[in-house]
Amino acid sequence: MDIYLIVGSESGNTEMVADCVTTALEERGHSVSRYREGGLEGAALADKKVVLVCSSTTGIGDIPQNVEPLYAELTKKRPSLGHVRYGVIGLGDRNYKDSFLGAPKKWDTLFAELGATRVGSRLELDSTDNPTPDEDAVAWVPSWLAAIEG
Ligand SMILES: Cc1cc2nc3c(=O)[nH]c(=O)nc-3n(C[C@H](O)[C@H](O)[C@H](O)COP(=O)(O)O)c2cc1C
Repeated sequence: MDIYLIVGSESGNTEMVADCVTTALEERGHSVSRYREGGLEGAALADKKVVLVCSSTTGIGDIPQNVEPLYAELTKKRPSLGHVRYGVIGLGDRNYKDSFLGAPKKWDTLFAELGATRVGSRLELDSTDNPTPDEDAVAWVPSWLAAIEG
């Protein structure tokens, strides 16, 4: 499969998780590309069938700055993502209470609103009890792949 990663990260934790997930996916024979910049045009989501959103949370439940333009444009222009199946890996910190994992939840809600189908449950990584989020994410990959391939 061709798998497209959207990686929202402020200080690199989620980038590191996404790098390890990329390796795990490639080792299983999948081709992985990643959103870099350019908002909706840069993401070219019309061509993407399988998307994995990996996002931390900043501020009070806010989307990381590097992917905020894409999120904002999706929210505004609301293209149909009916052709997309997606998964979500979220990083957060339970101490933020009500805004815990706010950004990955926002991505999940937005993708669903735009008609995309989530496959598998969200992987929720809490930095208070997931000291090795990269290993936890790599361990989650086979179950997500099984769900998306099945
Ligand atoms: C300024 C700041 C605000 C944060 N706000 C939230 C939040 O609202 N909810 C949450 O679950 N985690 C929050 N976090 C925790 C981060 O999401 C978590 O530390 C994550 O591992 C950071 O990953 P990153 O380096 O990829 O951005 C916040 C962290 C910082 C530094």
